[in-house]
Amino acid sequence: MTDQAFPVLPAGFRFGAATAAYQIEGAHDEDGRGPSVWDTFSHTPGRTLGGATGDTAADHYHRYREDVALLRDLGVDSYRFSISWPRLLPAGTGTPNPKGLDFYDRLIDELLAAGIEPLVTLYHWDLPQALEDRGGWRVRETAEAFAAYAALAAERYGDRVRRWITLNEPYCSAFVGHAEGRHAPGTREGRGALAAAHHLLVGHGLAVRALRASGDHEAGITLNLDRIHAASDRPEDLAALRRAETLHNDVWTGPLFAGRYPEHEAETWAGQADGPWRLPDDLQLIGTPLDFVGLNYYRPLCVAAAPHQVDDPAGRTAVDIGVAEADPYGTRHTTMGWPVVPSAFTELLRDLHDRHPRLPPVWITENGSAEADAVAPDGRVHDPDRIGYLADHLSAVADAIAAGVDVRGYYVWSLLDNFEWARGYEQRFGLIRVDYDTQTRIPKDSYRWYRDLITAHRARTEETR
Ligand code: FCB
Repeated sequence: MTDQAFPVLPAGFRFGAATAAYQIEGAHDEDGRGPSVWDTFSHTPGRTLGGATGDTAADHYHRYREDVALLRDLGVDSYRFSISWPRLLPAGTGTPNPKGLDFYDRLIDELLAAGIEPLVTLYHWDLPQALEDRGGWRVRETAEAFAAYAALAAERYGDRVRRWITLNEPYCSAFVGHAEGRHAPGTREGRGALAAAHHLLVGHGLAVRALRASGDHEAGITLNLDRIHAASDRPEDLAALRRAETLHNDVWTGPLFAGRYPEHEAETWAGQADGPWRLPDDLQLIGTPLDFVGLNYYRPLCVAAAPHQVDDPAGRTAVDIGVAEADPYGTRHTTMGWPVVPSAFTELLRDLHDRHPRLPPVWITENGSAEADAVAPDGRVHDPDRIGYLADHLSAVADAIAAGVDVRGYYVWSLLDNFEWARGYEQRFGLIRVDYDTQTRIPKDSYRWYRDLITAHRARTEETR
């Protein structure tokens, strides 16, 4: 184990663990589930490391009882998971799939019986392929379909689920999916990606309204906002910082929390950002006040000015903004290649709080690290680097709270090792190791550390679950 001291969080702070449907469920073609863009993408040769797919993943669809028992023993207050849209609605719209609806009934009931609050993400990147075939997030119809799906989920599970996250990291859906092309649907578009970003936000706004219309629900969105530093004080690097802030942060925080489109978007996209997809009432819809905002944080970014990849603005992708990434941090990196800089987490939270007077309470909906885990001769997984990462980042959250930021809770990414998107199965983020040949679960040292931290927190604050 480790002598890493437990970070001290205030009374009332909540602890959880997070997963996402396509990364753990498997059962990709069972019980009436339809295909999603991630099925198509992962089955396309060359798209994922070693051709990995989520066909089986951690087989959670069949092992959810065992996984909930592990959550119970971990002692978390809450579990964040996502519903697979194509499991509920195989074609994205239309007739629901009864067996898909039943699965989440069983999962939610199991959680509640274990005393764990479900926090449901409606969209963690698995768009039904049928909707992609009709234009995907590039068209407004997908936002409308998303709201109908949100209404269906709220109607079915709303008697047991109170807190809902509409979208997970729309940055990745829009830009990693439609501009970098590293994620499904895997295209390199310019304006298509900007249209997708907008329609994701419209879908979010419509879904918030649908959730509220269906009952006393709390609604939020999960963003992966970045703490971005400039490589130097040179004016060109500061301008690169402004463009990167626009692409990574302001696209989302502007409409959600400031009632405006990003201030520097014309400069960032050479006048390309404004499009016919923006309708007059959209800002009001997107800016519907939220009960909370979810924040996923892993690492900071540092940027410098760089030449554009393509000279002609009309031919560029939305991420070709004349910026190169630097890594001046001089710290350890996780196996993802990400620098470990907990202080940037505090900076990010403080900066968000300072810039946005309308910011709702914050929940850390993901934070964690991929490490080179191995099963030791004693049969255990000793992962001191992960424990150090979690401890230091929880301390960074405590520092932000001490500075006045309203952070209510924290979810480790992830409960289980899982399908890490294009990086396949080599990256292990879990508190629990998954042996993909046998589907055996082995709680790592970090699992016991997190359990003990939660126990210590409860003893100190005299709270019970
Ligand atoms: C986030 C995703 C999550 C996981 C982590 C490592 O961007 O939301 O599904 O892959 O990164």
